[in-house]
Amino acid sequence: MPRSLTENPRWYQTAVFYEVFIRGFFDSNGDGIGDLRGLIDKLDYLEWLGVDCLWLLPFYSSPMRDGGYDIGNYEEVDAAYGAREDLIKLVDEAHARGIRIIADLVMNHTSDQHIWFQESRSSGDNPKADWYIWRDDDSGWPEARIIFTDVEQSNWAWDSERQQYYWHRFYSHQPDLNYDNPEVVEAMLSIVKLWLDTGLDGFRLDAVPYLYQRDGTSGENLPETHAFLRRLRSEIDARYPGRVLLAEANQWPTDLVDYFGSSDECHMCFHFPLMPRMFMAVRREQRLPITEILAQTPELPDGCQWGLFLRNHDELTLEMVSDEDRDFMYAEYGADPRMKRHLGISRRLAPLVENSRPLAELLHAMLFSLPGSPVLYYGDELMMGDNVYLGDRDAVRTPMQWTPDRNGGFSRADFAQLYLPPLMDPVYGYQAVNVEAEYRDQGSFLHWVQKMLSVRRRHEVFGLGSIEILAVDNPSVLAFIRSYYPESSLAVKDSENFAGNLEGDDASQISTSLDFREDSKEGEERCVLCIFNLSRFAQPASLDLARFKERQVTELLGRVPFPDIQEGDYRITLGPHGFYWFSIT
Ligand code: NOJ
Ligand code: CA
Repeated sequence: MPRSLTENPRWYQTAVFYEVFIRGFFDSNGDGIGDLRGLIDKLDYLEWLGVDCLWLLPFYSSPMRDGGYDIGNYEEVDAAYGAREDLIKLVDEAHARGIRIIADLVMNHTSDQHIWFQESRSSGDNPKADWYIWRDDDSGWPEARIIFTDVEQSNWAWDSERQQYYWHRFYSHQPDLNYDNPEVVEAMLSIVKLWLDTGLDGFRLDAVPYLYQRDGTSGENLPETHAFLRRLRSEIDARYPGRVLLAEANQWPTDLVDYFGSSDECHMCFHFPLMPRMFMAVRREQRLPITEILAQTPELPDGCQWGLFLRNHDELTLEMVSDEDRDFMYAEYGADPRMKRHLGISRRLAPLVENSRPLAELLHAMLFSLPGSPVLYYGDELMMGDNVYLGDRDAVRTPMQWTPDRNGGFSRADFAQLYLPPLMDPVYGYQAVNVEAEYRDQGSFLHWVQKMLSVRRRHEVFGLGSIEILAVDNPSVLAFIRSYYPESSLAVKDSENFAGNLEGDDASQISTSLDFREDSKEGEERCVLCIFNLSRFAQPASLDLARFKERQVTELLGRVPFPDIQEGDYRITLGPHGFYWFSIT
């Protein structure tokens, strides 16, 4: 049955996101570059996979010196990707399949090729002279850190045309816009509207912490930046209800939550500090890195949601860890110097876990059940590999592997014409790892992800529930309870009458299919116990579940009844990197 778009304006709280690098997804016209029509061709696949919202990396016209994050013209789709009409068609076709689409929006900076910058640099008194930040010397704002430390020496760059320095937080070919100029604010708000008018469902806001600078500060998370975000949000709420703003703010939890404001800034923020700690926890085989950061994570304001991720198009960033933990991560995951990029590790998920299927499953099971909306990165559902011999972050941006045919089925262009070579090594190459093969193989990781997402979709507690970390005697075991009691069910909760929940469910029936069992009712679990073994060896665990005495425990994927909770001390054994999702009813 085709899915349709939910009308719930808070759809993003229960959605699963999928990040698409258009350039690398599917090439419809054989020029070696993925494009919007190619993505339209693959929507059926994404619908089958069960994702709810695509996040498109920047598609605007660009010299492509930073994957399109160097915008040359905000008003045009890059010719290699198609045209505005193609985007509108993509949005319509996706919506028809129940899939929403958000686009990356780079507000902080443009390319130095942008016509605004060309004008701005031409003299000190042209109409756009103050659209960027110009100074006679490069001594200003020394407290602001350099983000791309491995390639940039300063946040100031000399422009020989204007004979002045301009400010940039990323590459020197990406000058920062001057948000103290009200014309820049207005120009950006009209660009937002221009694209929302195509039917897009919102934006991932690139590099939001850096919009303003003030003397004596780090130039991050300033009150002026938050005021601008409130303005942006109110304009969107007024004209475009149901759209979402997802902030890319690589910050510590206490600064991060400020991007939700009082539910009047961004609807979502990526949880940057949690991500590296999931990798740390499985390597140390200890839950502490995860539980520590969750303890430091403030409550979400109403209507907000975390964006959770394992990998994305950038390096696995290590900005939000201590120096000691960064050394540990480099030693464990990035030993080869070619893997280090900026302040992180440019590798895909599968090579990071040494192609271990149980470990990839464990990490995804955590991703799908921790509080937030999961954001998948294209190709990770196949356990695709990377190519550390490519420059910058291209290691993780190679073509999607569709088939074992030429160019991995990504493009009919000559190999030499491809924007990047597809993987061809014996382990991760397209002949071994591709959608066609994994789709045919019911036991593949692709099918496992698809099934997990279908289970997750049936239980809104994963998107909406609170979390309580449980004390477990074994430090290698992470356990938490997710609970969600919608307003309408509070009467049931008060009387503690959960008995009816599983009525009619014949859990003893043995399924011969490899599929997880279908639920008899939708969204019935209001209390789910999630338990993970972070160690590569089998582990016992004892949980204090006294307050759930006499409740029924049912494994969620197979609907298999486990022993009821008796006097509180509940004993479980988990296989290597094993996990359970239990409903407690
Ligand atoms: C964050 C993006 O994710 C990254 O790819 C880009 O290089 C920087 N912002 C600069 O725009
Ligand atoms: Ca193309």
